[in-house]
Amino acid sequence: MNNGDVSQGRRRFLIGATAAVGGVGVIGAAVPFVASWNPSAKAEAAGAPVTVNVEKIEPGQQITVEWRGKPVWVIRRTPEMLENIKKLNDRLRDPQSEEPQQPEYIDGVYRALKPEFAVLVGICTHLGCVPTYRPEVAPADLGDEWLGGLFCPCHGSRFDLAGRVFFSQPAPLNLEVPPYRFDDDVTLTIGLDPEAA
Ligand code: FES
Repeated sequence: MNNGDVSQGRRRFLIGATAAVGGVGVIGAAVPFVASWNPSAKAEAAGAPVTVNVEKIEPGQQITVEWRGKPVWVIRRTPEMLENIKKLNDRLRDPQSEEPQQPEYIDGVYRALKPEFAVLVGICTHLGCVPTYRPEVAPADLGDEWLGGLFCPCHGSRFDLAGRVFFSQPAPLNLEVPPYRFDDDVTLTIGLDPEAA
């Protein structure tokens, strides 16, 4: 067992289930419904914040929600994942998040309001493919130095579990962090800044 208390088998199942719901079910269901709205309602919904109960996300699990037509990932990072993120700083292009790929209240190596929860736009900064969640350590296809991260299948860009891009990748920038806030301990709202920001 590598990451927290989720077994590999369980994690693979959860990843598969999440991809199916986020990638097909939600979009497929939303199109006919949205088409019947008037233009102002559509415009409002397109930019509307999205609320997520993070309590239901298991350690090591990634879920996908749709915000402004984009996939947004919420990853519940285990203590082991957070330790591994810190080990990668000297292999990354922008380890301290200095380029403008996140709101100003997000910084540092974890790129998150709460280190346990990563919130990332799931679109590669190279040409816009959707990277794959690969939380395993040293899987055969990604090599011994892989400590868990996000892998873009289109041209092979690699990101860590904070969405930070490695050196010498096709992708020029870290993954984007959307505006978000916690309304309470378990309620995350994507699309709104924290009250204090
Ligand atoms: S679109 Fe991701 S590497 Fe090219």
